Amino acid sequence: MNILVTGGAGYIGSVVVEETLRAGHKTVVYDNLVKGHRDMVADEALFVEGDLLDRVKLETTLRDNSIDAVIHMAAYSLVGESVAEPQKYYQNNVVAGLSLLDAMRECGVSKLVFSSTAATYGEPEKQPIEESDRTAPTNPYGDTKLAFEHALKAYDAAYGIKYVSLRYFNAAGASEKCGEIHDPETHLIPIVLQVASGTREAVEVYGDDYPTRDGTCVRDYIHVIDLARAHVLSLELLDERSAIFNLGCGGDGYTVKEVIDVAREVTGCDIPVRVAARRPGDPAVLIASSQRIRETLGWQPEFQDLRVIVESAWNWMQRRSTGKSA
Ligand SMILES: NC(=O)c1ccc[n+]([C@@H]2O[C@H](COP(=O)([O-])OP(=O)(O)OC[C@H]3O[C@@H](n4cnc5c(N)ncnc54)[C@H](O)[C@@H]3O)[C@@H](O)[C@H]2O)c1
Repeated sequence: MNILVTGGAGYIGSVVVEETLRAGHKTVVYDNLVKGHRDMVADEALFVEGDLLDRVKLETTLRDNSIDAVIHMAAYSLVGESVAEPQKYYQNNVVAGLSLLDAMRECGVSKLVFSSTAATYGEPEKQPIEESDRTAPTNPYGDTKLAFEHALKAYDAAYGIKYVSLRYFNAAGASEKCGEIHDPETHLIPIVLQVASGTREAVEVYGDDYPTRDGTCVRDYIHVIDLARAHVLSLELLDERSAIFNLGCGGDGYTVKEVIDVAREVTGCDIPVRVAARRPGDPAVLIASSQRIRETLGWQPEFQDLRVIVESAWNWMQRRSTGKSA
């Protein structure tokens, strides 16, 4: 297929591009580089620097490359920022997303895989979280992702655009060439590794009095390569129907303390910790049931072990800082 990946110069997008290319799809990346990194886009992909709101460029790109399906990953995704600046989030995650859907309609492209999020659930009522559970986001970021899912449902019913919405839990780890760089970085594993490498002083642990096995929050981490492969599998379903899938590894998840301990083992570095107050709206446990995607698409995570995830992130970080990667 000919695939357009919006946000393909970002952390997850750059790995998705590696996997679509590996599966033999001609891949075009469409990214405005507001957060992305041009050097993380695989050489075999065509790169178009453009914004989702630029309808002319978007439609030209869709037509000129005879795009069959879109993987839509471009978005803003900082929870705190979305609370402070909701306009920015509605504009980019909803308005710009609708610009993409309308460009697709105009060009006769009727298949889309969407990067959704566990934040659509808000405070979960039970664990593990299933796709049929209540969605009640607790911040504008989650609201905008859920709003776009609603638009997808309506566009499918009215215009026949088939979609797979993938509700990611915590993406982590790296491929050989692509890894996690966000500015600011808010994700635990890169933060912990920054402390190990001496570019940050200490890890802030938000609350150690949760009703969990060691008092710190439990989260579900999914290796970015496993996540990327789910996108390639999802493309196949779009011939038949639309669907929503959780994407996490499930199991018992890992506590914040467990992540830090594994990072200490992997890096051999002391990683100082500062315990801070709980953050409002942080649930004690967030674990996905990924049963639906396993059963429907036969998806199986290959890199579930936290040690493997952290090692891949650390190795990538070392290679990048010594200029041997990407
Ligand atoms: N990282 C996670 O753990 C996680 C979890 C749940 C959901 N997600 C979702 O996955 C997607 C990718 O996340 P990421 O961590 O790779 O983020 P990222 O910030 O690294 O990548 C996003 C990319 O989109 C591009 N972009 C943003 N707005 C654009 C626009 N208007 N036009 C063109 N390009 C634009 C950015 O330049 C960037 O390259 C996002 O939609 C995010 O909400 C991520």
